[in-house]
Amino acid sequence: MSIVEKFATMEYGVAPEDPKEAMGWLDRHGRRFGHFINGSFQAPAAGEYFDTSDPSSGEKLASVAEGSAADIDAAVRAARAALPAWQSLTPHARARHLYAIARLVQKHSRLLAVLETMDNGKPIRESRDIDIPLVARHFYHHAGWAQLLQQEFPGSVACGVVGQVIPWNFPLLMLAWKIAPALAAGNTVVLKPAEFTPLTALAFAGICSEAGLPAGVVNIVTGHGATGEALVKHPDVDKIAFTGSTEVGRIIRTATAQSHKRLSLELGGKSPFIIFEDADLDSAVEGLVGGIWFNQGQVCCAGSRLLVQESVAEELLQKVRDRMGTLRAGPPLDKAIDIGAIVADVQLKRIRGLVEQGISEGAVCWQPQTAMPSRGFYYPPTLLSNVHPTSTVAQQEIFGPVLVSMTFRTPREAVELANNTAYGLAASVWSESINVALHVAAQLKAGVVWVNSTNQFDAACGFGGYRESGYGREGGKEGMREYLEPAWFKNAPPLPRAKPVVSTEQPAAPDGFGIPAIDRTVKLYIGGKQARPDSGYSMEVRGPDGRMLGEAPLGNRKDIRNAVEAARKAEGWGKATAHNRAQVLYYMAENLAQRREETVRHLSEAVGEQQAMAEFDASVERLFSYAAWADKFDGLVHNPPVRNIAIAMNEPIGTVGVISPREMPLLGFFSVVLPALAAGNTVIAVPSETYPLVTSDLYQIFDTSDLPGGAVNIVTGHASQLLKVLAEHDDVDAIWCFGDESLASTAKALSVGNLKQVFTNEGRAIDWFNPEQGEGRWFLEHATQVKNIWVPYGE
Ligand code: NAI
Repeated sequence: MSIVEKFATMEYGVAPEDPKEAMGWLDRHGRRFGHFINGSFQAPAAGEYFDTSDPSSGEKLASVAEGSAADIDAAVRAARAALPAWQSLTPHARARHLYAIARLVQKHSRLLAVLETMDNGKPIRESRDIDIPLVARHFYHHAGWAQLLQQEFPGSVACGVVGQVIPWNFPLLMLAWKIAPALAAGNTVVLKPAEFTPLTALAFAGICSEAGLPAGVVNIVTGHGATGEALVKHPDVDKIAFTGSTEVGRIIRTATAQSHKRLSLELGGKSPFIIFEDADLDSAVEGLVGGIWFNQGQVCCAGSRLLVQESVAEELLQKVRDRMGTLRAGPPLDKAIDIGAIVADVQLKRIRGLVEQGISEGAVCWQPQTAMPSRGFYYPPTLLSNVHPTSTVAQQEIFGPVLVSMTFRTPREAVELANNTAYGLAASVWSESINVALHVAAQLKAGVVWVNSTNQFDAACGFGGYRESGYGREGGKEGMREYLEPAWFKNAPPLPRAKPVVSTEQPAAPDGFGIPAIDRTVKLYIGGKQARPDSGYSMEVRGPDGRMLGEAPLGNRKDIRNAVEAARKAEGWGKATAHNRAQVLYYMAENLAQRREETVRHLSEAVGEQQAMAEFDASVERLFSYAAWADKFDGLVHNPPVRNIAIAMNEPIGTVGVISPREMPLLGFFSVVLPALAAGNTVIAVPSETYPLVTSDLYQIFDTSDLPGGAVNIVTGHASQLLKVLAEHDDVDAIWCFGDESLASTAKALSVGNLKQVFTNEGRAIDWFNPEQGEGRWFLEHATQVKNIWVPYGE
């Protein structure tokens, strides 16, 4: 074809990227890779290998070691051995290492991009222009955090040896998101790449050697799920960071519950892409291309659920279909293609199966007449319309190039539909009205919201989910915190195992029939009202000398359910202004202070006069502290290197179930309830099991302080039983549990259903009188989740 003819047709020619360098790299390694342990490649202990292949052709690229428990053990040992020397480096020295890695990623960027495309099937345009530049940016940014560690995270220490398990959709980028912050914080790492895409992680191992990173600081063990499982279960790992399916996230939560391993999970999503009638529809269609057809839709935050305002739905869908017709599918090394290969046959079958199910449930399927390559794993861009919000394809992550569309009429309906999912990873909102866009963004339950844009990522901006999309953030300051913990906490002594409280169950005295010998009978406090327990039973409360002090209700499942309902209804507390929340907390302090004599007298019976006075005075102070914090625990505004600002807001988690420390009935209760409340959460609190009678003093304070009914609910009873109900309740968003080790494990193990965030003392003793331990940012950080709202500017 002559140039003139080409010009006339404007047809794309083929523009293949040369794979020679990548092939040469594979050949230099004999197309066979061991694990990278303690600074060198080592053959697997069991001598087993598996193939990794190019999904666009099915051709084998290399054999890769299958990691066994013995290989994982060797890697963990190497990471443990390297830890002291790595931690004894100055922050500047660690910053230099990260900087060297960033430079080498840039130097080898073309090799890495080509390898990534060959192993994963993603278009070279994406690996070259998005994945690899973001990898380099991540290491540069975290070289900065390494440098600033002591100034920006005073009093924090690294977790230790970190185990990281990553998926196949952004192989090297996910590695960077995991390894950069871990190293910057002073941890050492064992990372397991996904079985479909191990090659760039192995190339990265080479970069670590080239950069002179000390042996053992980064270890890479390849393998399948069982290798990941061995890493998760290894007793000498201090933290697990995982990205992948929600199903495996649940398995990992359960597997780590009996240990002190910290855990961060970045799981699936079904992110809404919301288009209002006043949006620039052409831009929104381009956004959709980036939202759902980027990386063949194999993106955890893909804008896979299109919600479009009814008045423009037909017009928009026609534009979408027209645009889909122009997407080019083909060999991913061709620089002019939009749709590459699906990572593996099993994933292709999963996509097909889900689309068929969608059609059988009534969806209308549309696919363009795009020519698809005859070999390799390809799936055409697909639009499913007429989808019911409860159908499988509207609820389940498809993880493929499949867009499902629904319509809405009002912004309110849009928010309802958008939040009608168990996930909460990301959302995209399109409107030319900044008021509408930000109003909707604020109401979406998602960790990232892109206004008039989509799939924006930057190392300075945290990324991570709400609800079943997981917990923890990657990127930004909050991402660094996932790899650090307070130095005092790491060394805190264990709490002695709690002895069961000796109490006799008996029918509660009917109203007005107090038993004369008993000092006090408290009630539950639900929805701002005192309530009798459903069971009709109460527990005797005795002082340390065995003397009967009173009775407290034995709360049960039904009481917890009522309390959760009341807490949900009181969610307006989270929308009250921070100033207003501060005022209520100050008012509580004022009202508590007035009851000093009575409260101290009551409390003295359980803990002695000296502790009672100290607890009381510290409680008033703690109320002042959290009143002060309520309007000061602000978010941040980031400046990513695009024409965007990212507003990082600290949002409440929602409804929090709290098991208060038993050893300090008043100060312990306030120390754990107030940060949750100050941040705007509603609370169901189980007070100290040893002295639940403290409740009577508490509800009098709440009643007289303008706290909305239901913002705090108190259910007395056996902590372990009530914890079980709270942890298993799907309408509770987080569990805070402060007790002995077995209580902490129970909290983690039982919260797996809806993947609640769990914050515990890990069975360790906290000195509640010491403000460094008993109050402040550590608690507030657990009481909030960061939502990053990206807002573009300029024309
Ligand atoms: P997966 O969750 O099984 O794999 C992710 C990583 O976890 C891999 O490295 C795998 O080897 C490892 N793994 C598997 N089982 C493990 C275990 N018991 N303990 C520790 N590690 C384990 O995801 P898979 O099977 O590759 O994809 C299945 C579905 O998951 C996809 O269709 C998609 O819906 C979703 N997915 C979501 C991702 C996300 O970024 N949110 C990434 C990958 C998959």
